[in-house]
Amino acid sequence: MPCLFDPIGRSGRMFRKNDTRVNRPPGTRPLPITGDLPTFARDQFGFLPSLHRRFGDVAEWSMGSTRVAVFFHPHDVELVLAAAGADGPLGRGQEDTFARHAAITGNTGLILSEGVYWKRQRRTLQPGMHAKWIAGYAGIISSFSEATVLSWDAGQTRDLQRDMERLVGRIAMKTLLGSDLGDQLAERLKRASDRMLQLNMAEYALGSKLPTRVPTPLRYWLKRASTRMDRLIMDAVEHRLAARETQQVTVGPDMLDMLLDARDEEGQPLTRLQLRDEIYTLYLAGYETTANTLGIALTLLSRRPDLQQQLVDEAERATGGSELGYEHVGALELAEAVVKETLRLHPVVRALNHRVNTTFSAGGFAFGPGHLVWVAPCVTQRDPRWFDEPDEFRPERWLDGSTDTLPRFAWFPFGGGPRVCLGQRLAVVEMVLIMTTVLRRFVLSPAAGESADLSLRINGGGHLVCTNARVILGDRQETRNAEEKADHHA
Ligand code: HEM
Repeated sequence: MPCLFDPIGRSGRMFRKNDTRVNRPPGTRPLPITGDLPTFARDQFGFLPSLHRRFGDVAEWSMGSTRVAVFFHPHDVELVLAAAGADGPLGRGQEDTFARHAAITGNTGLILSEGVYWKRQRRTLQPGMHAKWIAGYAGIISSFSEATVLSWDAGQTRDLQRDMERLVGRIAMKTLLGSDLGDQLAERLKRASDRMLQLNMAEYALGSKLPTRVPTPLRYWLKRASTRMDRLIMDAVEHRLAARETQQVTVGPDMLDMLLDARDEEGQPLTRLQLRDEIYTLYLAGYETTANTLGIALTLLSRRPDLQQQLVDEAERATGGSELGYEHVGALELAEAVVKETLRLHPVVRALNHRVNTTFSAGGFAFGPGHLVWVAPCVTQRDPRWFDEPDEFRPERWLDGSTDTLPRFAWFPFGGGPRVCLGQRLAVVEMVLIMTTVLRRFVLSPAAGESADLSLRINGGGHLVCTNARVILGDRQETRNAEEKADHHA
C-alpha cells in the first residue's frame, strides 16, 4: 500500500527530472525504451482500470521513458485539476505535442496555449459561453435537428454515429461561422480536421524525439492539412468582415460575432491569426466530443424503449406538444440525466494529461519537473465507492438523490479547475436538444445483426467512438396509436 500521508510529498523538495530515488507510488515494472506502451496499446480499455485494481488510488506506469503518475481518488483529482492554471505547477501534458504542433502549423488556440497567453485568451473567449449566447446557438441547434429528422423516414436503417457527426459538424460550423456552409463544405472541413487529428497523433507517437526544424514527410502533411483548414476558415471570416463593412449581415449572433467583438484586458480585438486559431480550436474541441457522446447515448437508448418513452413524455409535458427550444431545456431533467450518465459510463475524453513544471504533490507523493500526471474519468467514474452498480447505465441515479453527496470530482467528463471545458454548458444543451428531437419523432431499435452490448473503440484522436450505432427508425406517432388501440381493445 502506498503511504498516503508521506511527509516527503508535502515538503516542497526539488527533484531532478524523473528522479527515481524519491518515494514513488507503486507501479509497473516497465520494459526498457518502450516502457508499458505495448501493454497500453494492446489493452487500451483495460490498462488504466488494471492499474487502479493492482496498485490503488495512485499508480505509476511508463510511457516510453517517461513515468506517468495516475490519480484515481476524487480528492487527488481535484488537486491535479486545480494545479493546472496559468500560474500552477502543472502544464499541458502533451506540452511537446502542443509546442510541436504550434511550431509546425503556427496554431496557438486556447486548448493549445499555456501561461499568461492562455489566461488572456480564456478571459476573452469566456463571455461567448454565457447563457445569452447559448440561447442563440440553441436556436440554430433546434432548427438543424428538426430539419435533419424531417429528412429521415420511418423504416430506414441509419448509422447514428455517422448521422451525429454530420449534424453536429454542421451545427458547429453554423454556430461558429454563421453561414450554412452546406453539407459539402462542412464535409470538407470535417475531413480536414480528422486528418489534422490523425497526423497530430502520428507526430506525437513518431516525431517526438526530432527537433521541429527537421523537415519530415509527416510534418509536411501536417502543415498542408493545417493550411487547408486555415483557408476554409479564413474564407468564412473574410466573408463576414466584408458583410459587416457593408452592413449586410443577415445571420443571427454566432461565435464569429462574439470573437470579432471580443476585447482583451487592454481593449484590443483578436488579430486575424488569433481568430483563425480560436475558431479552429473551438471546432476541434467541440465537434467530435459532442458527436461521439450523442452517438453513444442514442445507441444506449435504442436498447431501452422504456427510457425512450419516458424522455418523450417528459418533452411533451415541457413543451405542451409545441416545438422544442432552449426555454424547455431546464425542464428536461431526465434528458440531462441521460447525458450525464452516458458521460459517466463512457467519457469520450478518457484521461487528462498534465506535465509537472516545477514540483507537484498529491496523494502523499511528490513529483519533479517533467513527470507526467494523469487523471482518468474512465476509472474514477466507475468506482463502486462513489456509484452503486457502476457498470450499469442508470440515468435515474442522477434524479433519485443517490448521487447528491458524491465527492466533487467523482464525475468530471469535462475536466475541472481553471482549464475546465469552455463549452460544457453548450455541449449539454446541444445533446439534450438533439437527443429529444430525434426521440420525439422516431422509436429507435437496434438494426439487425447489431449486438445488444455497446461496442466502442478509441479513434485516431484518442476519443471514444461507438461502432455499433446502426438503428432502425420506427414512427413514434404510429407506434403510439397502435399501442393506444391495443389498450382500448384490451
Ligand atoms: C461532450 C462534449 C464535450 C466533452 C466531453 C468535452 C471535454 C473536455 C475536456 C475533458 C476538456 C479539458 C481538456 C484538458 O484539460 O486537457 C475540454 C476542454 C475544452 N473544451 Fe470541451 N468538451 C466537450 C464539448 C466542447 C464544446 C461543445 C466546446 C466548444 C464549442 C468545447 C471547448 C473546449 C475548449 C475551448 C477547451 C479548452 C479549455 C482551456 O484549455 O482553457 N468543448 N473539453
